[in-house]
Amino acid sequence: MKSLLVTGGAGFIGANFVHYWLSQYPDHKVVVLDALTYAGNLANLEPVNGLDNFEFVHGDILHTDLVVELLKHHTIDTIVHFAAESHVDRSITGPDAFLETNIVGTHSLLKAAKQVWLDGGVTEHRFHHVSTDEVYGTLAENDPPFTETTAYAPNSPYAASKASSDHLVRAYQETYGLQTTISNCSNNYGPYHFPEKLIPLVITNILEDKPLPIYGDGKQVRDWLFVEDHARGIELVLNKGKVGENYNIGGHNEWHNIDIVQLVCKLVNDAFTADGQLAKRFPNATKAVAGVAEELITFVKDRPGHDRRYAIDAAKSRRELGYEPVESFETGIRKTLHWYLDNESWWRAVMDGSYQDWVKRQYS
Ligand code: NAD
Ligand code: DAU
Repeated sequence: MKSLLVTGGAGFIGANFVHYWLSQYPDHKVVVLDALTYAGNLANLEPVNGLDNFEFVHGDILHTDLVVELLKHHTIDTIVHFAAESHVDRSITGPDAFLETNIVGTHSLLKAAKQVWLDGGVTEHRFHHVSTDEVYGTLAENDPPFTETTAYAPNSPYAASKASSDHLVRAYQETYGLQTTISNCSNNYGPYHFPEKLIPLVITNILEDKPLPIYGDGKQVRDWLFVEDHARGIELVLNKGKVGENYNIGGHNEWHNIDIVQLVCKLVNDAFTADGQLAKRFPNATKAVAGVAEELITFVKDRPGHDRRYAIDAAKSRRELGYEPVESFETGIRKTLHWYLDNESWWRAVMDGSYQDWVKRQYS
């Protein structure tokens, strides 16, 4: 029986991981530590809130003493570290928070883990760090995908901060013997994805008849993975991964941005044609009702330093861990669209800011 501390568990991937983990391991304890920044949302944890073996702690990974206390109090043997500033565009306009949380915050967690586990003689432990393919930089059209031995070449402040945190995790393993693993994953999509990121932004903007901004020529490539397949990959790393190793996780699912946006437009058009109720439920969605959501596509100024292509070679994870994504893109993207159609109150609360009422009440 494990006792997990999941940092950033109120965010997109962290929350999906917690749902997945508790469904697979109903006797494990899961403690979420989350600062509830703009990206954290308690509603993401509603499906598990109230379970006896689940606890939410509102707090910052920068507070080493709080983390030490949690590790001791809950006899934590596994840290799964998701907490981060995660949006590239925000890292371009305001890099400081990225350095603070992603670098100093990760170091704060490592210090706490070292103190409680290594200095305290806890031999059975694991610090798993959730990282990204962006640390590897960018690929040209015909380059082979990133492997675990691709040299780090981060291009945005976000990617540089994640690369730094990966190096710190590695250093704590090499220097002190902390039992660490790292996973580097490609672009995730699925339920609870914050609507500043491409796929949920496109879905919710269509429903509101707002422009769909395409940066530059829209020919950049991303490798999309359904979020539950990321959770499964992390599960395999925790159960079978070798200490000190990095594992790439991805879906072999490369798409040009413009093509994925066109696809989402088509799926929304089709959904409105198939279900007459949608026009009544989403009266603003006039383009979708008319079956021409793609008319909302608007080319805008490119992201500075925009990485052209990401692609993950997950052969090592397949070979050593038996990793294989379960969800096809066909089914995953439809599930995602229907989740947003069925959970309007979730994204409306994000858009009008009321999802943060609980946080505001704590400090008023
Ligand atoms: P997210 O922005 O949706 O969620 C981040 C969570 O971390 C939020 O709940 C936020 O409140 C919390 N947080 C931020 N700063 C904190 C702090 N100082 N202390 C405690 N909690 C804090 O992010 P996401 O998309 O779910 O990504 C999770 C992790 O996965 C990140 O480390 C990211 O780098 C990595 N990753 C993301 C993707 C992707 O496609 N989204 C792909 C690969 C890797
Ligand atoms: O590759 C993994 C990374 O994927 C994660 O580490 C990051 O945390 C996550 O945010 C994501 O980064 P991207 O920058 O790839 O994701 P985003 O959804 O912001 O953008 C996807 C692509 O779409 C990218 O090429 C930029 C483009 N884009 C994005 C937005 C928000 C647009 O063209 N228009 C937009 O409005």
